[in-house]
Parts: sequence; C-alpha cells; structure tokens
Amino acid sequence: MTSNTPPYLAELDVALRQSVDLHLHDEEGFGLMVRYALGWVTANGEPYNQPTGKRLRPLVMLLCANAISEDWRSALPAAVAVELLHNFSLIHDDIQDDSPVRHSRPTVWKIWGIANAINAGDTLFTLAYSALADLKDHLDPALVVEIWRTFNETNIELTRGQHLDMRFERQSSVTVEQYLSMIKGKSAALIATSAYFGALIASKDINRAKHFADFGLNLGIAFQIHDDILGIWGDSSITGKSAATDLISRKKSLPVLHGLNASDRLRELYNKPVFEEDDLEAIFQELTVVGSQAYTRQQENHYYTIAMQSLEMANPDPALRPALDDFVNFLFQRTY
Ligand code: IPE
Ligand code: IPE
Ligand code: MG
Ligand code: MG
Repeated sequence: MTSNTPPYLAELDVALRQSVDLHLHDEEGFGLMVRYALGWVTANGEPYNQPTGKRLRPLVMLLCANAISEDWRSALPAAVAVELLHNFSLIHDDIQDDSPVRHSRPTVWKIWGIANAINAGDTLFTLAYSALADLKDHLDPALVVEIWRTFNETNIELTRGQHLDMRFERQSSVTVEQYLSMIKGKSAALIATSAYFGALIASKDINRAKHFADFGLNLGIAFQIHDDILGIWGDSSITGKSAATDLISRKKSLPVLHGLNASDRLRELYNKPVFEEDDLEAIFQELTVVGSQAYTRQQENHYYTIAMQSLEMANPDPALRPALDDFVNFLFQRTY
C-alpha cells in the first residue's frame, strides 16, 4: 500500500478497541482472553506489539466501500463486526482442530482451557452483533435489517462449513464438490459478506453490492485453497500455526483430496487409524511426488480469475480500483 492509502487499519484498530472497551471492563480475567485473542496483550496482560491477525475481512470491506465512495468510514461498525466474528471463529476453530498455536503464540484454549476458550469465543460473537447495531446511526433501517439478516445467514454458513470440515475427517472419500461446499461455508461466506457490506453501505444498491459479494466469495474460495497449501508446505515460523496438524487430524484439504485420488499408497497411509513415526513424512513426500501442490495452485488460480471477473462486473471506480488489485495480489502471494 502507498503513502496515499487511507488509514483503514489505524481507524479500524481504534474502533475495534472502543467496541471491546465499551463492554469488557475487566482487564485481568474475562476481558484478558478476548484482548489476547485480538493480539493486543500477552497472556499476563502486558501490551503486545507484534503483528497478529491480517484484518483481511475488514480490509476487503473498506476497500470495496472506497471503490464506490469516498465515505468508507460509514462501514467501520460493520468492519469491526466481521473482525470480531472472525476471531470468535478462530478461538472455536482452534479447539475443534486441536491446534496448539496461532499467530506464533499458544491458542486461547491451550492457556486457559477449553471451557474458558468457548466462553471467550461466545463473548466475541456477541460483541460482533453489538458493533453491527451501531450502523443504525447512519443507515436506512431497511438496509440495517438486510445487513443483520445477511450476518445471521453468514454465521449459519460458517458453522455449517465447520461441521462439514470436522465430519470429513472421518469420511475416507470426499468429492471436490463437497470440499467446495465446505470451504464456501467455513471461510468464503464471511469474505463474501465483507465485500457485500462494504459495497452496500457505500452504494445503497443491493444489486450492485451482489456483484461485490460474488467477488468476495471467489476470493474467499481462492484464499482458503491457499491456506490449504500453507497448511502443508508453509513455514510454520511464518504462518504462526503448527505444521502437520491438518494431516494428523486427517483433514480433507484440497491437496489431500487430489493425492488420495492419485495415489494408492497415500490412501493406505491416510486411512491408518494411528500414524507411526515416519508416516507423516511419507504422506508429505507422496503429496509432492504426485503433484498435489501444483494441482492445488492451479485451482487457486482458477478462483482468483473468477474473482477478478466478478470485480469487473461490480464496476468499481477506476481511480480507486488499483488499491483493490494490490490487495488481491498480496493475498495471492502471501506466505502467512
Ligand atoms: C484464518 O484466516 C482462517 C481461515 C479462514 C483460513 P486469516 O488468515 O484471515 O486469519 P488472521 O486473522 O489473519 O490470522
Ligand atoms: C478456517 O479454518 C475457518 C474458520 C476458522 C472458521 P481452518 O482450520 O482451515 O484455518 P486455520 O488453518 O486453522 O487458520
Ligand atoms: Mg484450524
Ligand atoms: Mg478448521
């Protein structure tokens, strides 16, 4: 981003902190877990200044709003809401995936236990709705209702996707179609909604905003496919997440689906109830040998191309469009 880039992240951070401070007054116990998850403090409550979440969903929203109108700030309450909701989903996801590390730090459940982590996640979920309610100050009530309804549907989509993700761990064969349905739910739905809200708040035009939603959905599919690649071939010191957790829990990520179709040996290894010492390395090697990474990259490319076509249809302001393109390129090349 250039020096002319509007201060999206700085203003988002102020708004996020305000929305948390308004409701959580206890810095030491209850409020600590929420602030830790958002990357603001250490587990002891000391200020924490290392980079944590990418704030991708609010950025998608504010960039889409700004690709239509100069007034991107009207979307800030909704930008806060999607980031809070995303962090709720991360806390619960780390329990569901048995993941010990996120953002290069122990996960909330690892420090405070599963029961406390569920509770902290529930708080973030509720704070997201409180933030969304602030839209009523600047927006027509009919649009606020549309946003509220969409947010509910997105949450149901997200939990449906998480359900499929967990169910597929115990299912020996999963089709690409089933995989796509799962990732649309768990990841792409919230990114689609972020693009939709930004465009809707800026344009007040549901039909135009739906083109932005298509852009967000395809971007979100490509984003999750990229995450699948990083989950196997990424550098855990850069992703901040532990490597191999996806393989150990028999996740049906896209490279794995490809590998299971291409290799009898991989199918045999992956179906073992318990992995022996060298099995993980053998799975990793086999995926590489049968070209699962190249296949997955190709699929990622395919969805980025569709995303960019949807963006054309959405007709963003040509002067403001480069910032969106830069952001999409960043996502495409990201290593974390
Ligand atoms: C992680 O999302 C979960 C997925 C949907 C793949 P992000 O990679 O956007 O998470 P943070 O907030 O930047 O860590
Ligand atoms: C992403 O889950 C979806 C949600 C968090 C709702 P993943 O399990 O695929 O993502 P990471 O790799 O843990 O971030
Ligand atoms: Mg996970
Ligand atoms: Mg998961």
